[in-house]
Formats: sequence, C-alpha cells, structure tokens
Amino acid sequence: MPQRMTLITSPIFIPEAQLKKAGSFAALFGNNHPLALEVGCGIGDFVIQIARQHPEMNFVAIDIFNQGCRQTCSRIETSGLNNIRMMRIEARYLMYQYLGEQSLKRIYINCPDPWPKKRHRKRRLLNNDFLNLALYCLLPGGVLNFTTDFADYGASTGEILADDERFVNQHTTPYTHDLGDYPVSKYMCRFLDLGQPIYFCRYARKAGVQIEPPRLQKGFRLRWPEETE
Ligand SMILES: C[S@@+](CC[C@H](N)C(=O)[O-])C[C@H]1O[C@@H](n2cnc3c(N)ncnc32)[C@H](O)[C@@H]1O
Repeated sequence: MPQRMTLITSPIFIPEAQLKKAGSFAALFGNNHPLALEVGCGIGDFVIQIARQHPEMNFVAIDIFNQGCRQTCSRIETSGLNNIRMMRIEARYLMYQYLGEQSLKRIYINCPDPWPKKRHRKRRLLNNDFLNLALYCLLPGGVLNFTTDFADYGASTGEILADDERFVNQHTTPYTHDLGDYPVSKYMCRFLDLGQPIYFCRYARKAGVQIEPPRLQKGFRLRWPEETE
C-alpha cells in the first residue's frame, strides 16, 4: 500500500540534503557528544525515553515510514529534549553513506519487521551483512541493542551474535527476557501486555578487532517524492 506522504516541517526533522550540507551530525547538534542511532523508531516513544536517560549523548532516530516520522518529531518537540534528531532514511544507507567507521556509541533496534513467513526471512534486517555494517559503525566498546517479540528471530540473532568473536555479550545468555531499565517501545509494550516475552540481545564491539569495510548491497537507496538534491 503506498504511503500517504505529508511534508514534515519540524526543526527536529533532518532531510538528507541538510545532513549532506552540514557534513556531520556533530555539526547538526552543535556539539561532539557521542552519537546513538535508533533504527525503525516507529512513533518515537523509545528514543524519547532513552534520550532522557542519557542527556550526555546525541540520538538520531530514523524510520522509512512518513507518518511515523511526523509523529516522532511532534513527540520530540513536546518532550523538550534537544538531544534527538529524526531522519526519514533507510538504515543501511545512512550507516554506509553518512555514519561510517567508528561513528556510533550505541545502536538500538526494537521489534524490527519480523517477516514471519519462512520464505521472507531473508528480508529480515538482522543478518550477517547488517551485523558487519553495525560493527563497522560502532566504536570499540560501542553497543548493539536488539529486541524482538518473535521467538525464532530473537533466538537466531542471539545465536549469531554469541558465536561472533568480534562481539562481547553484555548478558550471560545469548538473549534474555529481563529488560532491566531498558525502555519499552510501543511494540514491546503491545506484546508484554499480551503476556508474551521480549527477546533482548545486548552485545558490544570487542576492542582491538579490525572490521572489514562493508559493501552496500544494491536496492537500499530509497528516494522520496519530496526530496530535492
Ligand atoms: C514493527 S515496527 C517497530 C517500531 C518501534 N521500533 C517499536 O518497537 O514500537 C518497525 C519499524 O521499522 C521501520 N523500518 C523497517 N525497515 C527499516 C529500515 N531498513 N530502515 C529504517 N526503518 C525501517 C518500519 O517503517 C517500522 O516503523
């Protein structure tokens, strides 16, 4: 179904051309605070909570869904927080094209599209290529946080991460259902309310490991009708 596109005029919203012109997120924020990325922020409830917990960091929330971006911007404006910016952009494209090597202290991915049918699982975001890109963008010691309500997505991602020697598990098991003080997103809340557990993986990039520069696979660039270069 095509998206209903509305123009987003919020000062929180950063069109790609603005990032390109500024040259960096540090320039956009006006400071050099460590940067965190939330991929697929939905309506922005998670990023507001985590940014409130960490005023010493800057947060970029991204989504490819226009209405979600609009709602996220208006919620961030209402929150009064000045350490969050929002972009409508595809995750791998942003990471590869604009973030790059050792640019991120944290990555957050909550309840990404589960692609439950077996034949669609190759479309899942969390795969070996994405994990390599995530490692490349993380600073040594930087942390990847992943949650899902989907048992097989949680278990298989936990297994891949636990087996990858470039990561250090921040929990004692490949995944946990104990969220501790990790904020709850809209989707997480929906499944917790139904009594379903959340699968939570938290892994840091090991210090001293070399990460090969990733290659951007074709098809990730999405162009928006309102975008001007
Ligand atoms: C199931 S929703 C979860 C939203 C939110 N994280 C939550 O937990 O409430 C997944 C979101 O990820 C976004 N998304 C999916 N693939 C993406 C990608 N490659 N880059 C950026 N956002 C993506 C979708 O548009 C959608 O808003």
